[in-house]
Amino acid sequence: MKQKPELLYLDLMKKTLSFTLWPEPPMPIIIFNSGRPAVIRFVVSVVSKVLDLIKLQIVKKQDFLESRRIVGGIWPRYADTMIGLKRLDNLQYCIETVLSEKIKGDFIETGVWRGGACIFMRAVLAAYAIEDRKIFVADSFEGLPKPDADKYPADKSDKNYINTYLAVSKEDVENNFRKYGLLDNQVVFLKGWFKDTLPQAPIEKLSILRLDGDMYGSTMESLENLYPKLSSGGFCIIDDYALPGCESAVNDFRAKYMINAEMKEIDWTGRYWKKE
Ligand SMILES: C[S@@+](CC[C@H](N)C(=O)[O-])C[C@H]1O[C@@H](n2cnc3c(N)ncnc32)[C@H](O)[C@@H]1O
Repeated sequence: MKQKPELLYLDLMKKTLSFTLWPEPPMPIIIFNSGRPAVIRFVVSVVSKVLDLIKLQIVKKQDFLESRRIVGGIWPRYADTMIGLKRLDNLQYCIETVLSEKIKGDFIETGVWRGGACIFMRAVLAAYAIEDRKIFVADSFEGLPKPDADKYPADKSDKNYINTYLAVSKEDVENNFRKYGLLDNQVVFLKGWFKDTLPQAPIEKLSILRLDGDMYGSTMESLENLYPKLSSGGFCIIDDYALPGCESAVNDFRAKYMINAEMKEIDWTGRYWKKE
């Protein structure tokens, strides 16, 4: 077998970051609490806290097909990214294309969770010894915002802001970069709500714009503030097209600015296009 070392490294990074080298472990029951009725939520939370005092945990076996995990169709326990291998492959393809076509600009992901997709972006730069591009890591680092239903009616019933599973601190994400030896001054954190951080972000040009903020508002704020900075030939990648709010935001934005570049399918929820 003859494979270039940089491709072997990136392949191992994708499998490690997505945890697909190992079987998916059972999940503590507290993690899916946000979708439950209030009373059950309360009971689960009290029981979990009490058990925690004596270092015990109730976990639930996850029942899904392995193929679903590979395409990022589950919320994983240990993975540093939930986007799955297909979307990681797409990210690698987009980055390698902008590098080989010399499309100018830094890379950003808006909505990073444990940071895995951004860590992978940094790994690609490391693999090709690129030192003049940055990775912007934009997140509240405290989960999703409460919906602003007046401004974004599509988000009205979104309850994910109470979901602690989606809230990962900046320190934890920094540590995740550190684990892979990839935390350095090419990585720039933008901490806060997108509506506050993105309009004044110190970004001149982008060649990779990856959106993963789930909601209509988060998707629209990312597009409005960052798409004008995306170079022609750069890629706009959408993680959440299967979510109705995100789909509407993308469609509304493309219609408003008459963006006709072909939107291609990555997997059941991932989409991307090359800016013309
Ligand atoms: C589904 S997770 C992202 C998954 C991640 N890209 C990965 O590789 O696994 C969504 C993230 O978006 C962030 N987020 C969503 N809307 C936001 C907003 N308006 N401002 C700041 N962060 C936001 C949440 O905090 C959360 O970390």
